[in-house]
Amino acid sequence: MSECGFIAPVILAVILGLILWPDSLQEKIKKRCETYLEKHGLPSQNDCEKIWDSFRQAFVEKDPCEVPPDAYDSLIHTVSQVSQEPTCNRMMFWSKTKEKVHEFAKKCSYVTLEDFLLGFLLDNLTWCGKSGSQETFTTGCPSWSDCVNNPVRSFWIQASAAFAASACGDAFVMLDGAIDMPYNPDSTFASVEVKHFNSSIMKSLTVLLVTKEGDTKTCESDESLKHLQTDLGSNLKYQCKVVPQSQLQTCIVD
Ligand SMILES: *[C@@H]1O[C@H](CO)[C@@H](O)[C@H](O)[C@H]1NC(C)=O
Ligand SMILES: *[C@@H]1O[C@H](CO)[C@@H](O)[C@H](O)[C@H]1NC(C)=O
Repeated sequence: MSECGFIAPVILAVILGLILWPDSLQEKIKKRCETYLEKHGLPSQNDCEKIWDSFRQAFVEKDPCEVPPDAYDSLIHTVSQVSQEPTCNRMMFWSKTKEKVHEFAKKCSYVTLEDFLLGFLLDNLTWCGKSGSQETFTTGCPSWSDCVNNPVRSFWIQASAAFAASACGDAFVMLDGAIDMPYNPDSTFASVEVKHFNSSIMKSLTVLLVTKEGDTKTCESDESLKHLQTDLGSNLKYQCKVVPQSQLQTCIVD
């Protein structure tokens, strides 16, 4: 074997190792923070340190089943000071449509919670602490429904509440028309977001009910959407459109 034939695989292995080496939670979040601020033309390094500190204090040294939603108030406050204002008329909520909605939002210039700094920082992550320890963990944490007040669930509840409370003008929600209950009372959308809409700044909610080919569901035939109308009350205008999945490519709902 030539020397090159030996060295190349070693170099490759080292490079792969560096790429695949799991970042710590702190590095990952700070990197996301810096990426986000840079992309949006916002300064600075310092803020990401502050954001990490507020995030951390919400759950470190706590039993991972005893982190209530309001533990994140300080983080939400810190992030709101750093990042931009809500984008009226382009805000989009979702329930059971995570993949579709993000593709659609990106293509058609809507913004979801995960497009804002707060959601972007923690999208897809799991974290928790342990009482009596300063450490942060990303494995061995309670899952979404293991206990009510777990760090991940509490975060998304409080972040969703804040996002919904800031919704202004005409807002949208993408629901799955291929399931029995597109508007499920147990969803975060129904149980948290709808309850936090503020009719002094928000005018209307338009449901985009995404259907697959052959689905017969309509806005009028779906019982669960009647509950959404009731929950919205009389101060928010309700609209609903069926959007065949194939049409999501076209941004035609505008
Ligand atoms: C979360 O996961 C989805 C699907 O894999 C991906 O498209 C998205 O970029 C991830 N979010 C972040 C902030 O990395
Ligand atoms: C609704 O928005 C108005 C105007 O920004 C604000 O003054 C009020 O406090 C908000 N209400 C709630 C319940 O947050």
